[in-house]
Amino acid sequence: MKLLLIKEVYENNLFVNQTIKIFGWVRNRRHSKAGISFIDIYDGSCINTIQVLIRKNILNYDTEVLKLSIGCSICVIGKLIYSLGKKQRYEIQVKKINVFGWVDQPEYYPISSKKCTNKYLRKIPHLKSRTNLISVITRLRNEIFYAMHDYLRQNNYFWVSTPIITSLNAEGAGAMFRVSTLNFHHLPINESGKVNFQEDFFGKESFLTVSGQLTAESYACSMKKVYTFGPIFRAENSNTTRHLSEFWMLEIEESFTDLNDIILISENLIKHIIRHVLDHCVPDINFLYQKIDLSIFQRLEKFILNKITQIEYFEAIEILQRSKDKFLYDIQKGDDLSSDHEKYLVNHHFRSPIFIKNYPKNLKSFYMRMNKDKETVSAMDLLLPNIGEVIGGSQREERISVLKKRILELQLNIKDYDWYLDLRRYGTVPHSGFGLGFERLLSYITGIKNVKDLIPFPRTVNNLLC
Ligand code: 4AD
Ligand code: MG
Repeated sequence: MKLLLIKEVYENNLFVNQTIKIFGWVRNRRHSKAGISFIDIYDGSCINTIQVLIRKNILNYDTEVLKLSIGCSICVIGKLIYSLGKKQRYEIQVKKINVFGWVDQPEYYPISSKKCTNKYLRKIPHLKSRTNLISVITRLRNEIFYAMHDYLRQNNYFWVSTPIITSLNAEGAGAMFRVSTLNFHHLPINESGKVNFQEDFFGKESFLTVSGQLTAESYACSMKKVYTFGPIFRAENSNTTRHLSEFWMLEIEESFTDLNDIILISENLIKHIIRHVLDHCVPDINFLYQKIDLSIFQRLEKFILNKITQIEYFEAIEILQRSKDKFLYDIQKGDDLSSDHEKYLVNHHFRSPIFIKNYPKNLKSFYMRMNKDKETVSAMDLLLPNIGEVIGGSQREERISVLKKRILELQLNIKDYDWYLDLRRYGTVPHSGFGLGFERLLSYITGIKNVKDLIPFPRTVNNLLC
């Protein structure tokens, strides 16, 4: 007897007429008066359920089978046959069924199809993966993660684990979460009346990282092609559909490259990921096609076929100024693009993804390479329709004098960045990199608008469940 995942049953016809064993949970059940029960089982391995047919001559039919409700966990053993019914390809004629777990008060089971809006599911993150939608997202998240590593490995990048706890703000700005073992009810105070962080765990102030870039750069300066993928923490008070306080970021860093090289690398990477999804995840994408986005297949195919348009920051401003649409904020040269502006460009003007390049230095971080005009830096953002910025990257400033000047101009504590300056002191090298927001990429691919639905346990302002 073969123990199978439902996915394996559907992958080929190898097991038809054989006795198989399946573990899973009840999605639906029907009991006919003639003493036959039909139960649909899911096990998370794929979008399909498998129908099992149980006759009343089974030993525990009256005592257990008739009492099964949605969510009960079971094991069935039986013969796999082609189903006579039109709705499903296979069914299992059950010889034996075991119940592992009953559902308390089935009438109040939190996962009923009527209740399950995305907003409702956000309140029960520990149960939400029992729904079709979240199981689809979970499988896609897994495949996209795999495709990403696959692309990078094929292209000779090394995965480097950069630290999560840090003393440095890698972006030079933005709010960070503090890491501390100090007793908040009895804080040690120093001679100047301030908290004495020398008594804290690391002997200095420490935080959760906002980016692994600077430490990834240190490895790129010897290993040439590296990447890091991990959780990123930002304590910004942005309660939008595209911000999380804890999200996942892929950061690639490569020596001997410039801005144009990394634009190309990021474009190829996303195309590889989307190709993988279209080749390997059709049943899940098909579910999204039916429930979320009728244009999903066409949209993803188009992404792979077309070269992404590149525009200068100043061109973007001119387009926005010429637009007849009214934005919440009018935009001037030197201003940052709001999400309104980004959406106008990708949803209405270009109607496709775009790279925006060469931003004014004041809008970007200290480490970005100064252009010849001394006003703009060699930076790029990739904007995708509906979600906006998904990638931010740049060529890094490899000239120590220019980098020091920027650090001082921005009034950052230059001592903190001394180790980073070493990378420029000892065999400095032109290098570039970018960071890709994993949940935002998922949002683009799936068509699901809110990034909170694309991470298992979202953390946002005033929201920390489980
Ligand atoms: O543009 P960001 O801030 O760039 C960096 O952190 C660089 N150090 C990356 C690098 O060059 N290695 O962030 C990169 C991407 C954004 O484009 C966005 O997709 C995502 O991270 N991101 C967020 N995603 C979800 N919630 C948030 N609060 C995010 N902040 C940024
Ligand atoms: Mg950015």
